[in-house]
Amino acid sequence: MSNNFLDYVLRIRLPITLFVVVVAFSLTYFLSRSERDGVGYSPEQPIKFSHALHAGQMGIDCQYCHTSVEKSRHAGIPAVGTCMNCHTLARKDRPEIVKLTDYYTKNAALSWKRIHRVPDYAYFNHGAHVNKGILCESCHGDVKQMEKVAQVNPFTMGACLDCHRNAQAKLPYLKNVKKGPEYCWACHR
Ligand code: HEC
Ligand code: HEC
Ligand code: HEC
Ligand code: HEC
Ligand code: HEC
Repeated sequence: MSNNFLDYVLRIRLPITLFVVVVAFSLTYFLSRSERDGVGYSPEQPIKFSHALHAGQMGIDCQYCHTSVEKSRHAGIPAVGTCMNCHTLARKDRPEIVKLTDYYTKNAALSWKRIHRVPDYAYFNHGAHVNKGILCESCHGDVKQMEKVAQVNPFTMGACLDCHRNAQAKLPYLKNVKKGPEYCWACHR
């Protein structure tokens, strides 16, 4: 290998490579911010579905649509059929409802964008929380006011532990609530 070549690699290629790596890393870091702590994440959805209208103004119960929230890890997202219980009649001429009906007649699943997520290696269960009387808004904020759902609280390990340690202060509406677990295998099993 000639000295010239080595010189070229070290002086030109190396700095450029480093520069590219640093830029790529920073970009991924900032663009994936919502994937990491999630706060503020509020993607456009395939249908403009409003919680403010359905859960707020019309007062439809959360569990009419999120049926498994007391029973399992997941709250569940309703199938198009649940919407069609009403929208075969309600506002069926509106563009968004025409779109909705189209999914239904084609038997196509709506690909709602997932907003809240904890990594698979951590264990979270809705039922264990909801059945103790913890309200949706203690973790998800005031969804009844949201035109478009946004994540308002982080679900990092620090955030889980913060509530587990200070359960009484965080959940003032629950009398004598137990603290949540802090030992590692409660959430890493
Ligand atoms: C008529 C059906 C319906 C009702 C009632 C309803 N939701 Fe939803 N919910 C949906 C649909 C559809 C989505 C997915 C689209 C979206 O994010 O808006 C969703 C999404 C969500 C999400 C975000 C899910 C994610 O991807 O992380 C939360 C949190 C949520 N709902 C909470 C609630 C709460 C709390 C209530 C009651 C106050 C409620 N919902 C009532 C249909 C409903
Ligand atoms: C219990 C009945 C009911 C259910 C279930 C329901 N809706 Fe609705 N929805 C309505 C009614 C009634 C309106 C009209 C309210 C108004 O305009 O005052 C409406 C309005 C809408 C609108 C606004 C239409 C427009 O442009 O005026 C959209 C979009 C919509 N719903 C989507 C959905 C989706 C998606 C689901 C399922 C996740 C769903 N709805 C479930 C009753 C329902
Ligand atoms: C103790 C905090 C907490 C409470 C209380 C809570 N959630 Fe969640 N919710 C979460 C977390 C954390 C996730 C992400 C779960 C995951 O990735 O497995 C989530 C995810 C969701 C999702 C996304 C889809 C899914 O099934 O994971 C919906 C919908 C939802 N919650 C609705 C509700 C509703 C409705 C209530 C009240 C009946 C509620 N949540 C109460 C923390 C909570
Ligand atoms: C708003 C408060 C709050 C938040 C936020 C919260 N928890 Fe909890 N959690 C509790 C309370 C209170 C208990 C104890 C309930 C009881 O046993 O009475 C609990 C219990 C648990 C349990 C034991 C029950 C079971 O399912 O085995 C686990 C595991 C758990 N939480 C995981 C999590 C994880 C993971 C997160 C974050 C993604 C989280 N929690 C966020 C309040 C919270
Ligand atoms: C209340 C639930 C809970 C308890 C208890 C808990 N963790 Fe976690 N842990 C989580 C959640 C949720 C995540 C993933 C979210 C995040 O990135 O912070 C996580 C992430 C981690 C990670 C990956 C961190 C990273 O930055 O990628 C490690 C390592 C970890 N936990 C170790 C521990 C150890 C060790 C303990 C016991 C001292 C513990 N955890 C107790 C909920 C918990």
